Amino acid sequence: MSKVCVVGAGFVGSTVAQYVAEKDYADVVLIDVLEGIPQGKSLDMHQVAPINSHGRKIFGTNNYADTAGSDVVVITAGIARKPGMSRDDLLKTNAGIVQSVAKEAVKHSPDAIFIVVTNPLDVMTYLTFKTTKLPAKRVIGMAGVLDSARFATFISMELGMSAEDVKAMVLGGHGDLMVPLPRFSSVNGVPIPELISKERIEEICKRTANGGAEIVALLKAGSAWYAPGASAAQMVGSILHDKNRLLPCAVYADGQYGLKDVYVGLPAVLGREGVKKIVELKLNDDEMAALKKSAQSIRENIDVMNQLLVAV
Ligand code: LAC
Repeated sequence: MSKVCVVGAGFVGSTVAQYVAEKDYADVVLIDVLEGIPQGKSLDMHQVAPINSHGRKIFGTNNYADTAGSDVVVITAGIARKPGMSRDDLLKTNAGIVQSVAKEAVKHSPDAIFIVVTNPLDVMTYLTFKTTKLPAKRVIGMAGVLDSARFATFISMELGMSAEDVKAMVLGGHGDLMVPLPRFSSVNGVPIPELISKERIEEICKRTANGGAEIVALLKAGSAWYAPGASAAQMVGSILHDKNRLLPCAVYADGQYGLKDVYVGLPAVLGREGVKKIVELKLNDDEMAALKKSAQSIRENIDVMNQLLVAV
């Protein structure tokens, strides 16, 4: 019986818990420092089981002992953006939170695969890798799935065609410098550049890179949670069912694409042991330059974080 621990019972965490249970991937333990919140939300979600006919249990707690033996740990704890803030503005506060929850979680689930959702995503994934001291293939960041879903949604809106048939690929960091790849995106195999003009593709790529901020600006408090939650749950499913799905995720680059010692969004095969393989696409010069620029900005933020943590 698989067990997934979701750290952070905010909107994103509870949405992950809901999808993981409803898709029948695993039982879920939802943990948060706030007393009553994970318990109340979990009880509410558990009571959906007879309505939506699944047999999964969702349990809320403030105690890491209850998370022991989890197969996957999803870290969503941290503060979210307010309008005008970049994901990088969250670095200092969330680094302290992620460091402490990762330490506790791995103590109780040393065999787990960690999925990090907290922003700034790529840097927090790197921090989790360093804090847990797990092999890199067992620490993965979420955001490529989300950014690709946003890209795919905008493509389907542009074309008036069902999102079901759109497969899109976004690499790079989860930030303004992310790298949507129209050449590697298609509607049922038909490459996007065959269907949409160059100018409109550029607009859609820009909207994708700004996809999270667009929602933050509309909500005015907090950031998106449905698509982020569904994205993390999809990764959980690929891992627990050993599906070997090719999903863009923040993974540890160790020479691939000429990148080293950085977590950045790359196409990865996800299965029961975590990242089974990083696939190296033949990027053209512009795509490669954009990926390097994005990775460079993550690297700079990793250096900023390291200094902040040393200062603490
Ligand atoms: C977003 C936040 C969660 O992209 O980073 O919506």
